[in-house]
Amino acid sequence: MKIDVLTIFPEFFTQVFDFGIIRRAKNAGIVEIRVHDIREYAVDKHKMVDDRPFGGGDGMVLKPEPIFAAIEGLLGTSDRSAYPPGTSVVLLSPQGTPLKQPLAEQMAGVTEHLIMICGRYEGVDERVNETLITHEVSIGDYVLSGGEPAAVVVVDSLVRLLPNALGSETSALNDSFSEGLLDHPHYTRPADFRGMKVPEVLLNGNHAEIEKWRRERALEKTRSNRKDLLEGENGDT
Ligand code: ADE
Repeated sequence: MKIDVLTIFPEFFTQVFDFGIIRRAKNAGIVEIRVHDIREYAVDKHKMVDDRPFGGGDGMVLKPEPIFAAIEGLLGTSDRSAYPPGTSVVLLSPQGTPLKQPLAEQMAGVTEHLIMICGRYEGVDERVNETLITHEVSIGDYVLSGGEPAAVVVVDSLVRLLPNALGSETSALNDSFSEGLLDHPHYTRPADFRGMKVPEVLLNGNHAEIEKWRRERALEKTRSNRKDLLEGENGDT
């Protein structure tokens, strides 16, 4: 997968993709990530990337020209019906479709070239939304100052789903949410830590019993922390 991130804060991403699974996937050639400064595509002599909103109101709005120029530079067109197959252009914004595991799986499955536009919380000129983007994505019902942390979340959630990105092929299948449940608890050594003991069932090597215990704990945790997942009210796409 090729990933291009468009941002007005490129330094934000200096090291964030250089750890763990993403770093390994980069080194293995599974993903290639490039970060672009939107300001470099600004057309006027002051390199303006934002301006005041028409109609008044607080804050500044990201201007359309530099973003259109960046997309045209990357894809050769700003007509989304002419994007090469497998291209996703994502605007990160609190107005977007909530990112859930099924959306991550769908996007990881079909996207060969992912372009992410990091908005500012005040907004992005709506013509970007109307014309350029294929998905508007939110990482949750809260407002961030900008889309940069959200872009990191999207990259992480997608890259770990790419073939061979994880050490073991089965790990992503066992992730929380992959079956619509939260994960079961995990323990490692020591078996007795300050008098807190690892549940006996995990020590006895009976795999059927261990599976049963894990499923029960996963259900219990889901019931207690995320009842909506059991009631099918999570708005999955
Ligand atoms: N930008 C600001 N808030 C955001 C959110 N919750 N998700 C994605 N992008 C955002």
